[in-house]
Amino acid sequence: MKNSNSINVDKYHEPVMVSEVIESLHLNNKSKHFNKFSKIIDATLGTGGHTQALVDAGGQVLGIEMDPKMLSVAKERLGSKATLVKGNFSEIEEIAKSNDFSKVDGVLLDLGVSNIHLKQDDRGFSFSNKDQVLDMRLDSEKQGVTASDLVNALDATQLTNLFAVVMSFNSSRKLAKKIVNNRPIKTVGDLVEISAEFKKNETLHPATLPMLALRIAVNSELENLKKVLPKAYNLLSEGGKLLVITFHSGEVDILKKYCRSANLQSDLVLPGEIEVEQNPRSRSAKLWIITKNKKDLKKK
Ligand SMILES: C[S@@+](CC[C@H](N)C(=O)[O-])C[C@H]1O[C@@H](n2cnc3c(N)ncnc32)[C@H](O)[C@@H]1O
Repeated sequence: MKNSNSINVDKYHEPVMVSEVIESLHLNNKSKHFNKFSKIIDATLGTGGHTQALVDAGGQVLGIEMDPKMLSVAKERLGSKATLVKGNFSEIEEIAKSNDFSKVDGVLLDLGVSNIHLKQDDRGFSFSNKDQVLDMRLDSEKQGVTASDLVNALDATQLTNLFAVVMSFNSSRKLAKKIVNNRPIKTVGDLVEISAEFKKNETLHPATLPMLALRIAVNSELENLKKVLPKAYNLLSEGGKLLVITFHSGEVDILKKYCRSANLQSDLVLPGEIEVEQNPRSRSAKLWIITKNKKDLKKK
């Protein structure tokens, strides 16, 4: 199936805020294209939508992706147009150095997982696939602990804290208690059944937030974000930009805390109305832009 822009929507994630990302990297440029030495790291390559746009705009791109399945789709799509590597962005400095991207003009972090994980995957990312095992690991070659391992092994206090990253403390405590009383929990369907009473409103499926919290925990998403921000900033050359697309308050809190502690300003850009209408996932997207300037360089 193809959409009007001939993007294969079954195979590729639909990237959010692409024009805003490209525009923000052009802010100090007179021409619309990057100069041919512009180096950008797309640290959340996914199926390569942003990388494709960056390459089309003349950028030299290093794409990093921890999920081997997404990486192979991106490789097939982009071929040799960009340098594509498997890795965790928490190790961005080492990966950048070994690929000759030690000083770059931009780093992009488009956080979370892709539509492809939610729509097509057999790893239990979506509450629609009820028979799937509750796994949720992005990289099963490197990660040992699944979502099902967590819900069956953690105690009620640990589970409460896990869910409280995206849910209210009260709901988290009730959900944790219910899980402890209904173990073992093996499939998505088991969790969906337990989550039914935690419906927040008509539009949000009751399992959305419990599943988001589990995915965040399984993949150490917040810990990885804390690690990558200072490292990505260090890789920027003067005037370079760190672009972070967040989707929930847990990510925003970490970004704001980092900016406060490093005394950095950030600009916030929101998706336009048309994009929000056409791509529901963009509704909660926020693009944060942090520019490295001379003053910051002197501080280091
Ligand atoms: C929202 S998607 C990015 C989509 C991408 N911008 C595109 O256009 O296809 C986020 C991607 O980052 C990957 N990812 C998540 N955490 C990561 C990490 N710590 N290191 C590397 N990749 C990660 C996920 O597997 C997912 O493919």
